[in-house]
Amino acid sequence: MNNRQLKLYDEIAIDASKIDGKVNFIEIFCNDNPVEIEIGSGKGTFLIKQAAEFPDRNFLGIEWASKFYRYAVDRLGRWGVKNVKMIRTDAAAFIPENVADESISCFHIYFPDPWHKRKHNDRRFVCKKNLEILHSKLVASGIINIATDHKNYFEWMLKHISQCGELFEEIDYVLPAGAQDGEKAGTNFERKYLKEGRDVYTVAIRKR
Ligand SMILES: C[S@@+](CC[C@H](N)C(=O)[O-])C[C@H]1O[C@@H](n2cnc3c(N)ncnc32)[C@H](O)[C@@H]1O
Repeated sequence: MNNRQLKLYDEIAIDASKIDGKVNFIEIFCNDNPVEIEIGSGKGTFLIKQAAEFPDRNFLGIEWASKFYRYAVDRLGRWGVKNVKMIRTDAAAFIPENVADESISCFHIYFPDPWHKRKHNDRRFVCKKNLEILHSKLVASGIINIATDHKNYFEWMLKHISQCGELFEEIDYVLPAGAQDGEKAGTNFERKYLKEGRDVYTVAIRKR
């Protein structure tokens, strides 16, 4: 991170404390284009590239860590991106509470925190309970696109996905717009992990 003063652009940042009930995406984006959510947006690299590639889609980035959130808001604001909003909150609480059923066309989850220690595994976002919640928020045939460098978490994800076999079918993983040669997502964490020689695992599922 640099020392430049980060600006909290109003046109990008959604104040989580002001949200009461379900988010009205049509009001927020001023159109009724399909809405996609990225969970754990980090510095917003995926959002910048994807939003530019798909101007007829809306993107909401959810990021818990204040330093990443502020960095992403500043970056998206400086780029003048029109179809992205960011919110600083816990996706595991926000999505069930504040996202309407059947309103999201795609969830993007790139390099979610792996919670290495076995005793912390129940903090992993991709689990049966959250997959069921995401399923309820997806439109018909909506998609979840996931990438991770963590083999143990990936195997855990596949196990939990298989427990939701009636809800989802596995489909080909779609490379995001920002993925360059050899990349699966093109995010900051992926670039760091690839330099360390780690493998990246992907899975995509579609609502049945
Ligand atoms: C390993 S980083 C990956 C960031 C980005 N996706 C990338 O690939 O560069 C995981 C990010 O998810 C965020 N995060 C973890 N749990 C979250 C939650 N429940 N809600 C929102 N953000 C979360 C963390 O703060 C962190 O920025």
